[in-house]
Amino acid sequence: MLTERTTLVQFLIEERRRHPGASGELNSLILDVALACKAIANRVASGALGGALGSAGQVNVQGETQQKLDILANDYFVRATEWCGDVAGMVSEELDDPYLLPDGYPRGKYLLVFDPLDGSSNIDVNVSVGSIFSILRAPNPGIDPVRDDFLQRGTEQVCAGYAIYGPSTMIVLSVGTGVHAFTLDPNLGEFFLTRESIKIPAAAKEFAINASNQRFWEPAVQRYVSECLAGKSGPRQRDFNMRWVASLVAETHRILTRGGIFLYPRDSRAPAKAGKLRLLYEANPIAFLIEQAGGAASTGRQRMLDVVPSDIHQRISFIFGPSEEVARIEEYHDQPYEPPTTLPLYKTRGLFREEVS
Ligand code: AHG
Ligand code: MN
Ligand code: MN
Repeated sequence: MLTERTTLVQFLIEERRRHPGASGELNSLILDVALACKAIANRVASGALGGALGSAGQVNVQGETQQKLDILANDYFVRATEWCGDVAGMVSEELDDPYLLPDGYPRGKYLLVFDPLDGSSNIDVNVSVGSIFSILRAPNPGIDPVRDDFLQRGTEQVCAGYAIYGPSTMIVLSVGTGVHAFTLDPNLGEFFLTRESIKIPAAAKEFAINASNQRFWEPAVQRYVSECLAGKSGPRQRDFNMRWVASLVAETHRILTRGGIFLYPRDSRAPAKAGKLRLLYEANPIAFLIEQAGGAASTGRQRMLDVVPSDIHQRISFIFGPSEEVARIEEYHDQPYEPPTTLPLYKTRGLFREEVS
């Protein structure tokens, strides 16, 4: 095993050799993130035996009830990375404000942004969860960052990735040279390269959306999904399958593996919010990976990585998948759409009509 496969450490060192000026700080930070992910994987895998299931009984800045694992995972990320001198500060889904390092630790040249535990609603039901991370350059290396320092476009990311805690634990990341996947050997405690230069399959055969929100969707999304559902006999002239894991990481991993399209669009439930997923630590890192894998990621109206963030916990509408499919959805956002009013069940001679008359 050791000679046949490349370890994460070896992979990162070989990447660094291509940049003669690189100091190794980025690699060291990525490896500390990987350590945090291993610690989280352990707690996730222990389930009820690890005493970490269930609610922590408190609410985060998003107004969401924190699970014990949300807090534990946040702690692992912070503790594994704060000491090393590679980061200047952090932003986490679970912390209201940017995390500033304790006195005594050197401030480095990177900012670390993360969703420590993604898909929290899956924890107690033993379904895949993950962690998402993004690394940016600190505008002022060596000193504590301010809030605005984190408000960088997704194009500025130096590294983005996720860990998935599923039947096996994997890290999937990009440092801007393609997307690569590493699988954890739990006996050795080491990640090994198992998929190199991942490319998103071109034709989408599956779509992922939380259909319970359908009545709140915008016309463009109504149209896209209804055309997928119409299958072979509809305008798309082929059948689509549907999946929803309610874990962005698991959804991304499936799409990077066997293709498909993901939508968590803006909806009319909470007009003040532009969507559900968070720009800095969910949409941007995943968008970076998807683009690196040859796909496209969009708000529906613009390329995700071009969005100028206005808040560290900003929410945004998120659509990603093969470029052609994303372009189609963007086009629908530009066109007027009248939903069909002649669905058989609601017609004058339809089922419900007969019941009420
Ligand atoms: P988190 O657990 O970090 O709060 O993220 C959950 C997100 C994301 O992973 C998933 O795509 C989405 O919320 C699920 O939303 P619904 O509950 O609306 O299905
Ligand atoms: Mn999340
Ligand atoms: Mn989370």
